[in-house]
Amino acid sequence: MFRTIRDIQFKGKRALVRVDFNVPLDKATGAITDDTRIRGAVPTLKHILDQGGRLIIMSHLGKAKGTPDPKFSLKPVHQRLQELLGRNVTFAPDCIGDEVAKLAKGLKDGEVLLLENLRFHAGEEKNDPTFAKALASLGDIYVSDAFGTAHRAHASTAGIADTLPAYAGFLMEKEITYLNKVTQNPERPMVAIMGGAKVSDKILVIENLLGKVDSLLIGGGMAFTFLKAMGHQIGKSLCEADRLDVAKKILEQAKATGKNLVLPVDVVTAPEIKAGVATKTVDITAIPADELGLDVGPKTVAKFTAELQKAKTVLWNGPMGVFETKPFDAATRKIAECLAGLKAVTVVGGGDSVAAIEQMGAADKVSHVSTGGGACLEFLEGKTLPGIEIFSRDIKNMVGGA
Ligand code: 3PG
Repeated sequence: MFRTIRDIQFKGKRALVRVDFNVPLDKATGAITDDTRIRGAVPTLKHILDQGGRLIIMSHLGKAKGTPDPKFSLKPVHQRLQELLGRNVTFAPDCIGDEVAKLAKGLKDGEVLLLENLRFHAGEEKNDPTFAKALASLGDIYVSDAFGTAHRAHASTAGIADTLPAYAGFLMEKEITYLNKVTQNPERPMVAIMGGAKVSDKILVIENLLGKVDSLLIGGGMAFTFLKAMGHQIGKSLCEADRLDVAKKILEQAKATGKNLVLPVDVVTAPEIKAGVATKTVDITAIPADELGLDVGPKTVAKFTAELQKAKTVLWNGPMGVFETKPFDAATRKIAECLAGLKAVTVVGGGDSVAAIEQMGAADKVSHVSTGGGACLEFLEGKTLPGIEIFSRDIKNMVGGA
C-alpha cells in the first residue's frame, strides 16, 4: 500500500508538487515539441486546486549542470502550463531563496507558483540535505507525480521526504498500479513482448520478467544476439558478442523453467539502414551474409500475434525493428495494432515503444502508456525506486503526517 493524494485534504495547504516536466524542446525555436508529460500531471494539479490548495510546482528540465543556464529554463513550460490549467501561474526566478520563500508564503487558496529548474542547483542531483530542506520549507505537504524521475535519488524526489510527508499524485499512482499489475501476480496468461536494439539494455528486465511471464516474445535488434547464441548465421545484423553467454543462459533458463520463449522465425534484411532500400524477407536460416536484419518478418508477426491474442496481461517494451526508417516499421506497427485490439491489460513501457505506439495513434487504445523511460525500465528490473519508496514510509512523527 502507498499513500496518494486521495488520502489528504489540500484546502489552505501549500502543496509542493514534484512533476517531470522534462519535455523535449525544439533546438532552433526552444518551443515544446511534446507536452505529454505536462498534460499527464494536470489531473493532479487540478485536484489540488479544486480543493482550495496552494500549488508550488517544481521540476527539472534537460541536463543543466548545477548552475543556471537559460537554455534549460522552465519558461516555455510556464506558458503551456497556464494554458492547460486555464489560470495564471506565477513563475519564480529560482527554486529556493528568500524571494521564492516570499512568493510561496504569499500564495492564496487556488493560486499557483512554478519554480525555476531544480537542476540549476548542484544540491538537487547530489541529494544534498540542506537543499532538500530549503525546498521542503516552501510547502506543508509533498506530492510527487514525477514518475519519469522516480529512479533518481535526488533532493526533490527522495531527500525532501525526510522532512515532509510524501503522497503520490494520480499519474504516479497510475504508473505504479499498472506496472504492478504486470509484475506482481498478473492475470494469466501473461505475455511480455520485448524489442529494441540491445540485449545489454534489457538483460535485467528479461531476467526479472522471465520468472513472471508465461510467454516471452523477443524481437528487435536484440533478437539477433539470441539467434547467434543458438548457432544461426546472422549476416551483418547487430550482435553483442560480449552478451552471447547471457543470451545462452536466458535460453537455458527458459527451457528449464518451462517458459515459452519465442524468437523470430523470419526477418526483413537489407544491405543498409536507408528509407526505401531494397529488402528481402528470409527465414532465419537464410540471412544473407552481407545484409543485416532490420525488422522481424510476417511469419514472426503472426506467431507473436497468436501469443498476444491468448494473453490476459501484456507488457510491451521496445520496437520490433528500426521503426524510424520505412519500411522497417512494419512489424512494430502490426504489434501496436494487435495490442490496441486486445481485451487484456496492456501496458507499454520504455521510450521507443511508447514513441512507436504514439506515432501509430494507438496510445489511447491500450491500458497504460508509461511516461517513464529509465524509471520504467528500472521498475521492470524489479528495483525499488527511491521516488516511489517514499510513499510507504512511516510519516506518523512528521509535521503534517497523518
Ligand atoms: C527522463 O526524461 O527520463 C527523466 O526526466 C529523467 O531525466 P534524467 O535522465 O536527466 O535524470
